[in-house]
Amino acid sequence: MAIAASTTSDFAFQRCILPQYDARYSIGEALTACPQSGSLLDVMYDWDRLRPPTSWKFFQEKWNHRTDPLCFSGVWRFRELLPFAPVEQIATIGEGQTLLHPAPSVAKYAGMQSGRLYLQYEGMNPSGSFKDNGMSAAFTHARTIGAKRAACASTGNTSASLALYCAVTQDMKAVIFVGSGKIAYGKLSQALDYGALTVQIAGDFDDAMQRVKEISAKLGIYLVNSVNPFRLEGQKTIMFRVLEALRWEPPDWIVVPGGNLGNASAFGKAFMELKHLGLIERVPRLAVINAAGANTLYELYENRGLRWNGGQPDETIVDKYYAELDEQHRRAETIASAIEINRPVNLMKCLRALEFCDGVVREVTDQEILDAKAKVGAGGLGCEPASAASVAGAKLLIEQDVIGRDERVVCILTGHQLKDPTATVAYHGTDQEQFNRILGRRGVKRATFANRAVEVSNDLDEIMRAIQMYS
Ligand code: F0G
Repeated sequence: MAIAASTTSDFAFQRCILPQYDARYSIGEALTACPQSGSLLDVMYDWDRLRPPTSWKFFQEKWNHRTDPLCFSGVWRFRELLPFAPVEQIATIGEGQTLLHPAPSVAKYAGMQSGRLYLQYEGMNPSGSFKDNGMSAAFTHARTIGAKRAACASTGNTSASLALYCAVTQDMKAVIFVGSGKIAYGKLSQALDYGALTVQIAGDFDDAMQRVKEISAKLGIYLVNSVNPFRLEGQKTIMFRVLEALRWEPPDWIVVPGGNLGNASAFGKAFMELKHLGLIERVPRLAVINAAGANTLYELYENRGLRWNGGQPDETIVDKYYAELDEQHRRAETIASAIEINRPVNLMKCLRALEFCDGVVREVTDQEILDAKAKVGAGGLGCEPASAASVAGAKLLIEQDVIGRDERVVCILTGHQLKDPTATVAYHGTDQEQFNRILGRRGVKRATFANRAVEVSNDLDEIMRAIQMYS
């Protein structure tokens, strides 16, 4: 059943992800689900009429014009590949100046040949996480429809990003919902400092997500969580920059932490479109890594056989699993608080991405996450715990011979090291009580790669002796 909706653009529209509905909606509407199917929406383009560039050279040349903010932005210099808004509405604060970093010491840790592992460091974004890629796009869409308030539920990074865009542009008021005690201090401090209205709910992310959907619908507040399809348009550009850094030669694998599954979904869409447009010939494989304490995707995909199935997923598998979670009062629990999520909103889109990219899903323990994080830090790019799940996952997949030692692998480091100092200090510190309280209760037994501070009295000779001994 096709629906012809009024459109504000001849070239872009929203469409239900379930092919049997073929339901289309104007991009002038703020929708977070298909009104017919209740499923997620995509932003779609009429590529035949838009005729986007057929060569990467076009994008490469944008860098010569980087005094233009739209060419400087790592999101909007690819705007011909996300053409849903007029240029004068685009909201940019310099997002996407991120780096693909060869990481020989991390490659060694993961059991790979040197030179084959790269870290895509999204912590360099203005708010310190990959979220700015998507926020810039959602914010742009919000502007085009004249929104005055924007809301999100968050484990911390989405809220920091929304708060920052609101503060810089002064266009909208940010309303953020966080689970009480569930957000790392670095992230909470950002939301407070940037002046967002911060609502702490007695509950976790899954509760906050549920509430923010209800409240934004009731109060007409623009929702910027990744159920918003425009968010994911911005996040596609992470893959464009990875390709750019690899001189447009796709890697063999993209490894990404999985929380709400927005990134994995956006990456899949990016590759579908690039393949369709002839900008790539080969599609990388996708590995999505859950924390073991928040492993819904792993459980459904690897253990219960849930698949996209060409757009006909067996949703009863999901319903049954969620009913079990409820019956057993099971809540997500991991030191990687950013991905402490049991009901990922982009589950279906992620399944589609896994199908298109011949993907795999793995889970890693908090011990593996923190050890990988310490290795990433020692290699020079600090990240927060959730980000290190990608490296821990790559290591596991190499041990399992799923990824070959000589394949080219890109792990996404989604957030900056300073986002969650508590976990880092507890890992490296000497305070056993603190270790047990923060890490031990989550099954972390040892700080395998701890870099302990050396404690000395305030005595010149003793300080010098300590330096000689340890350096
Ligand atoms: N890594 C970090 C640092 C994150 O903040 C998140 C998600 C993820 C990974 C997972 O990404 O949802 O695309 O699978 N953080 C959200 C938030 C949920 O509210 O900041 P995803």
